[in-house]
Amino acid sequence: MLIKLSLVYILNHIKQMLEMKFNTYSNFPQEIHENFVKTYILPYRDKFEECIDLGCGAGGLIRELLKYRQCHIVGADISDLSINRCLENPAFKKEGVEFLLNGMMDLDKPNFKNRFDLIMSYSVLHIVPGDTPAKFKLLKHIAKPSAIIAIDSIPRITWNKIFFFLIRNTFKLGIGGTAIRWIGPIVLPHRSKDYIKELSHLDYMKDFSSSNFIDLSYFKSKEFRDSFKLLRLDIVPQDTFFTARRLRFVVKKL
Ligand SMILES: C[S@@+](CC[C@H](N)C(=O)[O-])C[C@H]1O[C@@H](n2cnc3c(N)ncnc32)[C@H](O)[C@@H]1O
Repeated sequence: MLIKLSLVYILNHIKQMLEMKFNTYSNFPQEIHENFVKTYILPYRDKFEECIDLGCGAGGLIRELLKYRQCHIVGADISDLSINRCLENPAFKKEGVEFLLNGMMDLDKPNFKNRFDLIMSYSVLHIVPGDTPAKFKLLKHIAKPSAIIAIDSIPRITWNKIFFFLIRNTFKLGIGGTAIRWIGPIVLPHRSKDYIKELSHLDYMKDFSSSNFIDLSYFKSKEFRDSFKLLRLDIVPQDTFFTARRLRFVVKKL
């Protein structure tokens, strides 16, 4: 009996740890998604038919796109917490949004080939394990010819390597949450208390590895130029000078 109880306890603990790993940051202020959609999607095409949001989280980006474009949208996420949260949203049901519990790299199947004319993704590609060519191979596979691909992620640049080295190690030492709660209001004075509190729970930052960040030299490679046209690329501070640099780009599949 005691062994059985211990096993149940250990299994529950492992389950909690796994859920924690992909616990969605669901509380991105909506203005972040709004700016992304207005700057990196709307100017590039008036009509879309089939769209996908890779790593949709709680669906903030989908919600924003639906304000401006009528299209069929698929939200894919590796976390059942994210997908369940989206499924509970009556607005998504009404709009016929479809949700897939799927790791992004598992979309390499024949039924996803050439399927989407808009691929969007906010703050996900740098979490997905793998190198940049492999991620673009997947994007190429699921994109229709002439599709627009609009991505926010983290570039592999020196500033981010240093920044995430510090973040990763404070989380590994178990003081990441406390550090963010103390330093957050100083570095991010314009963000709400709730935002900073949720940031402090992002335990998965201890697994952030710069080998998964986006390699900027790939945009100059022949492989990239043979399959895509770069329409826009920006490297911007996430919030303030002291925070990570984001990579935002729009490419068109040839
Ligand atoms: C920082 S959150 C961003 C969520 C959402 N895109 C947003 O902007 O609110 C990262 C999301 O990526 C998801 N994710 C992590 N690895 C993934 C993978 N391999 N495939 C698909 N989704 C993944 C997580 O579950 C989480 O929902």
